[in-house]
Amino acid sequence: MKRVTVFASGSGSNFQALIDANRLSKLNCSIAGLIAGSPDIGAIAKADTAGIPHAVLRKQDFPSRDTFVAELQKTLRTWETDWIVLAGYIRKLPDEIIAAYRGRIINIHPSLLPKFGGKGFYGLFVHEAVLAAREQETGCTVHFVDEIFDHGAVIAQRRVPVFPEDTAASLQARVLKEEHELLPLTLQNLLQRES
Ligand code: GRF
Repeated sequence: MKRVTVFASGSGSNFQALIDANRLSKLNCSIAGLIAGSPDIGAIAKADTAGIPHAVLRKQDFPSRDTFVAELQKTLRTWETDWIVLAGYIRKLPDEIIAAYRGRIINIHPSLLPKFGGKGFYGLFVHEAVLAAREQETGCTVHFVDEIFDHGAVIAQRRVPVFPEDTAASLQARVLKEEHELLPLTLQNLLQRES
């Protein structure tokens, strides 16, 4: 059974969607652990409730970049990680980690990439930009992670309409609902392809 480590920096609703899908035996993987980008985030509480180990790893808490990367590598090794899922992780992963897991790291992003991706496009900023550009539709994307933010090959997308009365928050909620289906489904397909 493949072992998946999830990285998150926020409420962890996508992380929860993975936990739920796995409980329903849809993923057939083991969620090995959560690497949290900050303490006190919702994702940690969700890990605790599900009995999944977590580690809070932030560059600023380490004496150097190298010691931070070494700790990330050690944690991934300890959890015997086969796949990495970025589920709302707002930092850039160190290149060493990307190289070690190339083709086995995916990210979920709340827009139809390549539109509205890259540095600064996170949270409500993405949906505000979609509204400002008067887009008729938006959506979410699961893609492989490479060294450039929100840039790796697209694996799957879901589209949702943008309505005239939408706010960034209403759009975010509509997109998030699709994310919760798309992320587990895409991971399931990738894991099945490997087995
Ligand atoms: C999601 O919109 C995801 O696409 C983006 O960050 C958000 C995380 O939300 N990368 P949550 O923490 O999973 O609720």
